[in-house]
Amino acid sequence: MTANKRIALSSDHAAIELRGLIAAHIGKLGFEAVDIGPTTPESTHYPKHGEAAARLVASGDCALGVILCGTGQGIMMAANKVEGIRCGVCSDTFSARMIREHNNANMLSIGARVVGVEIALEVVTAFLTAEFEGGRHATRVDMITAIES
Ligand code: RB5
Repeated sequence: MTANKRIALSSDHAAIELRGLIAAHIGKLGFEAVDIGPTTPESTHYPKHGEAAARLVASGDCALGVILCGTGQGIMMAANKVEGIRCGVCSDTFSARMIREHNNANMLSIGARVVGVEIALEVVTAFLTAEFEGGRHATRVDMITAIES
């Protein structure tokens, strides 16, 4: 984990409540949640929230990001369009750990309509406390990055 403990956090309307719980949880884990909203429950469009969080990560302002929508899928797709972003949707702790250890994912997406609160918090813990293993995995992650150019 980098010295940068800032974690970009955003969602659409489907995950406002869970996002608040995750923000508090991120703080308890010793990180700083950079919660960029939205703060009101009106229906909104997940691509802009996914992009906004992804840009904080891609710029280096935040070390990692956690984003949420109903399924986690749409906001993940938007985030992955930003250069340098590797975001996976996870509903289990094994996947959340592995996307850091093997894929060097810098963003995690969660479906608020898919998982319960306790699973979501454990998934966040697994993601934020895992480390990229490098080695042969770095070769493969570099191959992903090469697709961008
Ligand atoms: C919003 O109804 C829903 O489509 C959105 O939260 C997300 O699940 C999209 O992928």
